Amino acid sequence: MLRISNRLQALAKMVPQGMRTADIGTDHAFLPCYLISQGISPFVIAIDMNEGPFEAARRNISNYLLENYIDLRLGEGLKPLKPHEVEVLVIAGLGGSTMTEILNGSPEVVCEARRVIFQPMTDAEVIRIWLQENGWTIIDEELIYEDRRIFEIIAAEKRKSRTLSQSELCFGPLLIEKKHPLLPDLLEKELNGLQEILKQLAKSKNKEVDEKMHFFRKKENMIKELLICLSAASL
Ligand SMILES: C[S@@+](CC[C@H](N)C(=O)[O-])C[C@H]1O[C@@H](n2cnc3c(N)ncnc32)[C@H](O)[C@@H]1O
Repeated sequence: MLRISNRLQALAKMVPQGMRTADIGTDHAFLPCYLISQGISPFVIAIDMNEGPFEAARRNISNYLLENYIDLRLGEGLKPLKPHEVEVLVIAGLGGSTMTEILNGSPEVVCEARRVIFQPMTDAEVIRIWLQENGWTIIDEELIYEDRRIFEIIAAEKRKSRTLSQSELCFGPLLIEKKHPLLPDLLEKELNGLQEILKQLAKSKNKEVDEKMHFFRKKENMIKELLICLSAASL
């Protein structure tokens, strides 16, 4: 049986049974091979823009004899896709801003998708803002601890969302609602990073720095409040 990481398994769990899927930035094509071999997707389009990962994907697809079920395409973002070819879009392992650039570059493909699934390496907030502004609702969120990191996974479907608060945009409405057991760790890590930035900024004084410090202090307070809420809820 094909074994993949817990992070990729968590992504696969968010793909609805029986839906045609595209994996953008597929690298070794581990996720497409798993989706087909587990009978989750009947057909996957695997896309990568770089020759090295493209060749690695081709080798894996061939080794698992999955050429009839996985269509491997070389290209950037969603450009190699036509509208209606797939129902689910997965983008994992890229930064949040790169992901929104990919989405904005192919609106005709995005608006025909039934579900979009993301695992941003940075700036998950940028993804949630994009979803809210473009008429998508977050329907599932997960945190996975792997390789001494916490990975965020977000799934959304096309329907209008309620307006999310700043802390929901930053840390996930469903992660907060279900009080995900890894959320305090994610918040602590973010808080430590922010406090380090604030320490560095405090060394130089000018108006621009003051504005940045104000922004980071607001975020620091938001995280502290959220941590208090979560710890009160666990008593
Ligand atoms: C860090 S790997 C992630 C692989 C896999 N999605 C995962 O989560 O394990 C990123 C892959 O995306 C590809 N990539 C980066 N930007 C891309 C883009 N705009 N369009 C298509 N592929 C891209 C890279 O070549 C690389 O293979």
